[in-house]
Amino acid sequence: MRMVVKIAGALLERDEDVQLIARQIAELARAGHEILVVHGGGKTFTATLARMGISSRFVSGLRVTDRETRDAAIMVFAGLLNKKLAGAISLAGQPAVGISASDAACFLAEPMQIEDREGGLGFVGYLTEVNVDFLRSLWREGIVPVASCMGLGADGELYNINADHMAAAAAEFIHADRLIFLTDVAGVLDGEKVLRAVRGTDIEDLIRRNKVSGGMILKLEAAKRALAGGVSEVRIVGGAKPRALLSAASAGRCPGTRVLPVIRPAARAAHGAAQ
Ligand SMILES: Nc1ncnc2c1ncn2[C@@H]1O[C@H](COP(=O)(O)OP(=O)(O)OP(=O)(O)O)[C@@H](O)[C@H]1O
Ligand SMILES: [Mg+2]
Repeated sequence: MRMVVKIAGALLERDEDVQLIARQIAELARAGHEILVVHGGGKTFTATLARMGISSRFVSGLRVTDRETRDAAIMVFAGLLNKKLAGAISLAGQPAVGISASDAACFLAEPMQIEDREGGLGFVGYLTEVNVDFLRSLWREGIVPVASCMGLGADGELYNINADHMAAAAAEFIHADRLIFLTDVAGVLDGEKVLRAVRGTDIEDLIRRNKVSGGMILKLEAAKRALAGGVSEVRIVGGAKPRALLSAASAGRCPGTRVLPVIRPAARAAHGAAQ
C-alpha cells in the first residue's frame, strides 16, 4: 500500500515519541509499504523565532513569512526536525532520507494568494507538483523519504507550506491509498468523546457549532481535499499511543477518527441499494 504519514510537530518534541513512531514506520516499510513521511513542527519553530527575537503576524491563521522568518523555517523544518526524524527511522532499521523541496526539485510550490494579493503572506505557498519518479526510486531501494513542509518556487525560493495541506496534496499527487495524520490528540473530539467517523459534509457543521477549532479545522479541510482528490482512506489518530500507526495502517478498526468522503446523491442511492 502507498501511504502518506503526517507527523505533528508536538510528536517530535519527546525522543520517546519520535522513537516509537520511527519503529512503526520502519516496520511498515519493511513489510513493503511505500511510505512518504511529512512532518510539521510549528511549536519548535515558534520557540526558535522567539529565541532569535523575530516576531510574527498572522493573517487568517497563517503566519506572514518574511525572508528572515522563512530562513528560520528552513533551519527548523528542513534541518533540525527533518534530520532528527530521518535519523530515528534509520536507527530503527530502515534507511530513511530527509528531503526538502529543493532536493531533486521534489516538491514544487506557488505563492499563496490572499485577499487577491499574490505573495501577501510572504514565503507561504501551496504544493503544485511532486517529483514522483524521485520518490519511486527511493522506495525501490527500500528507502523512506521524510519530507519537510516546504516547496520550491519557480523563482528558486523556498516557500513554507502548512504541513497538513502539504500531506493532503502530496497524497493526491502520488496517488496514495491512505493518508494518516498522527496528531497530539486521540482523534477528532466531541468534548471527551473521540468521533469514530466524520463525513465531509459534517465538517462545516462541526466548525459552525464550535466543535472543532484551530489546527483541527485545517486538518479536516485537508482530509476532505485528499478524499476528493482520490485518496481512498483518511485517518486522524493520536500518535503517542503504542502501535497507533500500525493499527491506523491496517485494514482493521481505526484507533482514532476516519474521515469519510462526501456521498453524492447518485452514489448514496447505489450504496443504499447494495445493502
Ligand atoms: N474537536 C477537536 N478535536 C481534536 N482536536 C481539536 C479539536 N478542536 C481543536 N483541536 C485542536 O487541534 C489540535 C491539533 O491540531 P494542531 O495543528 O495543533 O496539530 P497538528 O496539525 O497535528 O500538528 P502540526 O500543526 O504541528 O503539524 C489539537 O491539539 C487540539 O488542540
Ligand atoms: Mg496543524
